[in-house]
Amino acid sequence: MISKKIQKAFNDQINAELFSAYLYLSMSAYFESINLPGFAGWMRTQSQEEIFHAMKFFHHINDRGGRAKLSAIETPEVEWSSALQAFKDAYAHEEKVTGMINKLVDLALKESDHASNAFLQWFVTEQVEEEMNTDNVVQKLKLAGESTNALLMLDRELGARIFTMPADSGK
Ligand code: FEO
Repeated sequence: MISKKIQKAFNDQINAELFSAYLYLSMSAYFESINLPGFAGWMRTQSQEEIFHAMKFFHHINDRGGRAKLSAIETPEVEWSSALQAFKDAYAHEEKVTGMINKLVDLALKESDHASNAFLQWFVTEQVEEEMNTDNVVQKLKLAGESTNALLMLDRELGARIFTMPADSGK
């Protein structure tokens, strides 16, 4: 059975993951508004991944005899000064989430909750990818600089990303 302390921390993480989904959906709307549909699609896929992350915590809490509790989601930013600024913010946000996951691992170890520690290792690995993916786009946008051609090429490249549900369906 999951402890009340871990349950509270995991419920807070459900909220953080759903906020991430909101943030990236808001970024998607921003990219639509500046006519970059590929960037917008990439952000929608990212938003779907965040809902998947939230659902993993949801299922883990319920599977261990706890109760997933949902709470109000903060309003995300709605405007950015450029594509580069939006992706810099996305990267900074992923660094923040990595810090949250690391704190959850610390808590699971402190509480000797080995099941939660094992569960969290998926997120430890995932955060390496999350930081890498966002930073990758930051670096490409820096290389593109003021070139509209390069920006449109990158828009085409990012538009190819699609969400594929992992085999474990969030559990
Ligand atoms: Fe759920 Fe982007 O980390």
